[in-house]
Amino acid sequence: MNYSFLGDAKTVAVVCNQWGDTGKGKIIDFLTPWADIVARGTGGANAGHTVCYGGKVFVSHLLPSSIFHDRDGKMSIIGSGVAFDPRQCIDELRIVHSGGCTSDHLRISRHSKLVLPQHILLDQLSGVQSGSDAIGTTGRGIGPAYADYYNRCSLFVGDLFHRDTFAKKLRLNLEEKIVRLRTYDRLLVKQICSQPRVGGEAYFHPESILDQETIVEEYTGSFANQLRDYVTDTREIMHSALGKKRILLEGAQGYLLSIDYGSYPYVTSSDCSIEGLAKGVGLSARNVDRTFGVVKAFYMTRVGKGAFPTEFGGSASDEHCARMNREKETEQYGGVTVNDPDPLRQGIAIRLQGDEYGATTGRPRRVGWLDLPLLRQSLRVNGNDIILTKLDVLDECDEIQICTAYRYAGEQFFFGRDTIKSGEIFQTVFPENSFLKSCEPIYQSFPGWLCPTNNAQTYGDLPSNMRAIIEFIERETGAVVRMVSVGPDREQTVIR
Ligand code: IMP
Ligand code: MG
Repeated sequence: MNYSFLGDAKTVAVVCNQWGDTGKGKIIDFLTPWADIVARGTGGANAGHTVCYGGKVFVSHLLPSSIFHDRDGKMSIIGSGVAFDPRQCIDELRIVHSGGCTSDHLRISRHSKLVLPQHILLDQLSGVQSGSDAIGTTGRGIGPAYADYYNRCSLFVGDLFHRDTFAKKLRLNLEEKIVRLRTYDRLLVKQICSQPRVGGEAYFHPESILDQETIVEEYTGSFANQLRDYVTDTREIMHSALGKKRILLEGAQGYLLSIDYGSYPYVTSSDCSIEGLAKGVGLSARNVDRTFGVVKAFYMTRVGKGAFPTEFGGSASDEHCARMNREKETEQYGGVTVNDPDPLRQGIAIRLQGDEYGATTGRPRRVGWLDLPLLRQSLRVNGNDIILTKLDVLDECDEIQICTAYRYAGEQFFFGRDTIKSGEIFQTVFPENSFLKSCEPIYQSFPGWLCPTNNAQTYGDLPSNMRAIIEFIERETGAVVRMVSVGPDREQTVIR
């Protein structure tokens, strides 16, 4: 593999400029041979990363995918910004080891925030309680774990090794939560507790809801023993490596899901921009020499709830996805084509063609055309270098639409000094949900290229109709397309 396009960059980051699931995993895999260290800094087991290793498919949620290159001496780091679920990590390590891989170079920050049974419980209970208003989280406890951090009552990975501190902090952490947990239907609580990821009923206690003794016992006992050799101050490793070793920062989720920049409140609870990623491994974004923002094109996807202006079939698609799964959809819509005149069905065909089902939850991802107003937002923070992925999915599409602007179509909206009226046109807008849901896309249409692109080796090999759209996006947004992915394999990557 030729990495000369990276120049003399030492620290490189890959983030997603959309709602996640843009194929960062493949790009990370492509760049891993270049790197000495691969580090994660945001999110937790809500992420899903499909990796092929030795002919088998693994989905890693918490471990950096570089773990499969441990034998080559690659160091994999889980940074302080990660919401760390020890049970999940141990499960993933077991799978990694059973596949014949080692984990000698894994390092886990002692400052990572612990995800505990109460977090998973509260995450899932609030999903049930909010009904159709629910965010549609992955139910992995991410939101409640980060909330504790800001509420200054977190437990950290380092606490696993101090039984008394752990027990004391756990008691404080649970004080208010128990009161709240007691207000929920006891049977439902028991049911959620019985999931293996919460501890398989071992922690459930009919009176106190969670049996603190048992939690302390397992976390500071068996879990601590299995993780001890990996835990350290990873910020020290990062700072000593800076400028000397090749560091690759692996983003999770995407810019539009960032708690700080995304479509609030339909977001995750960490900052998935380059800022949050750098901070989450103990660095500053100014330490990063090159940041690549991954963009699925020329369609995009979203899992879970929240506004999605360019969604094929609009709210009907959202409802359709909420009650579908991969098997049912394949069976019922297998014959639908990507040129179906009905947008809902066209979206279904693209979802099937692109295999757009959540790696963590299996949920169908909602599908829409590429949205440049949103891309312009992510470039502001993640920078202009982008990577386009999954372009081959649209090889058979007659016509490609690109959303270039929005027309506001809601009621008059007052933001202090500014009033926004129906009919106003925006090139870009901060993507808060209450506003975004009333934005109608304005499209520019392009003829498709109608030929296979899987074998393209150079930018010049790409069909001219495809290149015309790529160059249009660059002119419209200021983005610079550095790489194009035309298939799942490492080789199917065109460097520009
Ligand atoms: P949470 O991160 O589980 O709290 O979920 C909050 C929102 O982020 C939901 O809409 C999830 O579907 C979405 N989300 C979280 N992680 C991912 C991911 O890795 N890919 C895509 N969407 C995600
Ligand atoms: Mg994913």
